[in-house]
Amino acid sequence: MKAVVYNKKAKPDRLVYCDVEKQAPKPAGLSFEEAAAMPMASMTALQALRNKGNIREGQEVLILGSSGGVGSMTIQLARHFGVVITAVCSTRNVEQTRSLGADRVIDYTKENFAAGDRKYDLIVAVNGNYSLLKCRKALKPDGRYVMVGGALSQIFKAIVIGKPLSLGRRKMLFLAAKTNSDDLKYLLNLASHGIIRPAIDRFFTPETTAEAMQYAAGGHAQGKVVIKWSTTG
Ligand SMILES: NC(=O)c1ccc[n+]([C@@H]2O[C@H](COP(=O)([O-])OP(=O)(O)OC[C@H]3O[C@@H](n4cnc5c(N)ncnc54)[C@H](OP(=O)(O)O)[C@@H]3O)[C@@H](O)[C@H]2O)c1
Repeated sequence: MKAVVYNKKAKPDRLVYCDVEKQAPKPAGLSFEEAAAMPMASMTALQALRNKGNIREGQEVLILGSSGGVGSMTIQLARHFGVVITAVCSTRNVEQTRSLGADRVIDYTKENFAAGDRKYDLIVAVNGNYSLLKCRKALKPDGRYVMVGGALSQIFKAIVIGKPLSLGRRKMLFLAAKTNSDDLKYLLNLASHGIIRPAIDRFFTPETTAEAMQYAAGGHAQGKVVIKWSTTG
């Protein structure tokens, strides 16, 4: 389980991230709620872009699904890596996506990302439910596609046909993010300098955890969903 635990006896900057061995101090400039929203989404985004995506400055990067917890982090990190970002989201998220750093925003309710001639060095499919063949076609000759999320059937497809589709120079990859302290420290350092910031959609109380889970599972959160414990009681 990945969570953030607040030890009342510790100083406010001594927030501990679990799983227990993988932890880092909370930077002073981040609220506890923001810190709670950081670990999994930001590590997933980082590992998709850097480890699997081999991201390089100046590249053309497409982010499919830019407005949820992982997507909003992926844009900010991609910006930090100095790439040209095209992001795909629905109408209500266009402004948020632009403000997080996308150079070009495609509203998937109006436009098909695969319709034009534009080719990408890297496609990060946070929402991986798009046709794998269309994604492959949108890659440059040495491009990489990294699937992060999507329906189970689609993930299965990516794992099975990803290999044959990767026989040429284009690579079709699947990410299984792994938590680690070094990445966490790196990301918290970026957050402490204001380079990345978790987007939080809404807060729930422990009593409404089931509602929170249901809302998150709906697949349309605008950033992270945070369950907030009162520390005054
Ligand atoms: N591989 C890994 O290791 C790993 C790690 C963590 C998470 N994940 C997976 O990553 C995915 C994203 O996680 P998350 O927490 O960011 O989810 P989330 O917060 O539920 O994100 C959902 C976002 O996807 C957008 N979306 C829905 N349909 C879309 C479409 N057709 N095109 C583009 N965007 C679309 C939604 O925006 P609209 O409301 O505008 O549609 C929403 O903002 C999940 O599938 C999760 O299971 C994988």
